[in-house]
Amino acid sequence: MATAPAQQATAVPNDLEAYWIPFTPNRAFKAAPRLIARAKDMHYYTPEGRAVLDGTAGMWCTNAGHNRDPIVAAIRAEAAALDYAPAFQFAHPKAFELASRVAALAPGELDHVFFCNSGSEAVDTALKIALAYHHVRGEAARTRLIGRERGYHGVGFGGISVGGMVNNRKLFGALLAGVDHLPATYSREHQAFSKGEPDWGAHLADELERIVTLHDASTIAAVIVEPMSGSTGVLPAPKGYLSRLRAICDKHGILLIFDEVITGFGRLGHAFAAERYGVNPDMITFAKGITSGSVPMGGVVVRKGIYDAFMRGPMHVAELFHGYTYSAHPLACAAGLATLDLYREEGLFERAHKLEPVWAEAAMSLKGLPNVLDIRCVGLTAGIDLASRPGEVGKRAYEAMDKAFHELDLVVRAAGETLVLTPPLIVSEREIDEMFAKVARVIKAVA
Ligand SMILES: Cc1ncc(COP(=O)(O)O)c(C=O)c1O
Repeated sequence: MATAPAQQATAVPNDLEAYWIPFTPNRAFKAAPRLIARAKDMHYYTPEGRAVLDGTAGMWCTNAGHNRDPIVAAIRAEAAALDYAPAFQFAHPKAFELASRVAALAPGELDHVFFCNSGSEAVDTALKIALAYHHVRGEAARTRLIGRERGYHGVGFGGISVGGMVNNRKLFGALLAGVDHLPATYSREHQAFSKGEPDWGAHLADELERIVTLHDASTIAAVIVEPMSGSTGVLPAPKGYLSRLRAICDKHGILLIFDEVITGFGRLGHAFAAERYGVNPDMITFAKGITSGSVPMGGVVVRKGIYDAFMRGPMHVAELFHGYTYSAHPLACAAGLATLDLYREEGLFERAHKLEPVWAEAAMSLKGLPNVLDIRCVGLTAGIDLASRPGEVGKRAYEAMDKAFHELDLVVRAAGETLVLTPPLIVSEREIDEMFAKVARVIKAVA
């Protein structure tokens, strides 16, 4: 690994007004900006050169660490060789190479890859493939999509329809018709301070039977769940839950989609969480870690039978009317190939698996600190629920995140009233200790 860049000042813009920052309280940010100018390995650097430990792998994406030399070199070389090739009716070699590499990592019969540019696009792509698949097989009445309460599947209309985070849905109209939701799997009463998958909750998968009884299986296309819900505060699937969902989907001819946008590429100690749970879905959505966050890319891995179902009709007609101008962009493919090489050469998925007990121990050491109501962890991921101040839900965690950045040189994420840590998979044991020591300090500071 290269050493950190020399501390140097970067120009700070003097007008922050024009940029509308996503999913961020803009006025508070612009009053006290958290600006990041450079990064290397486990650290960010502010414009004035202050090193900040990255506790969140960017946003669950820089799994190989920041600005890794082989990825940077691959992007540079590709930018010089091929800036762009049409994504429809033409293609470039690295798209095929990367699809084969991703398919080889995916479990079971998942062996075809459709590329897009983000997790949200991956989710909408998977939902559209599910609907179209049933159509081309002659079961066009299967149009219902089933998500889960507290699920996050990005911000497209498909994703927010099957998603279950109320703030992401409530201002955006009626959303997709014909969507239903499984109950969330989290219960503090039954699961507080569980390490890994909680023992309680597998029976909640049986709610799918209730939904099937209500609508009839012949109207249901697919169920989509995250193997571990991340954006809603780290909710690992209960033991046995996912295999139970699989069995019910099989019984009723319903497709099962795992949204692995954050659990893919090592976060839970395997290439995909499906492998950790020994459950093969029909489709997996991915993004983020495929390029270690360096170039936007997403995609869907589909089971062979799904791809094959479309391969019919006249040879000159596209089999699926879907795709993006930047599907399999050359820079993203080059970055993806270099990233997968790095994961393999450095054994980063295995590393995450090995570090999991150390990580869990460190996370649980925060139990007993003021306002800590629950701690959840699985793979290299932890969610720490804080008690809200009366009438100010989310403010304590927001303040903790802000103080951690400005005063303790740590990036931690605030999701509602939950502090979330998801470091790059290259994190050292010393850095794990440093991270949780800083989180402990900040929790005390916002008590
Ligand atoms: C499970 C899941 N699906 C989809 C998305 C959306 O990804 P993107 O922000 O790249 O559109 C996310 C983002 O965090 C996610 O966690």
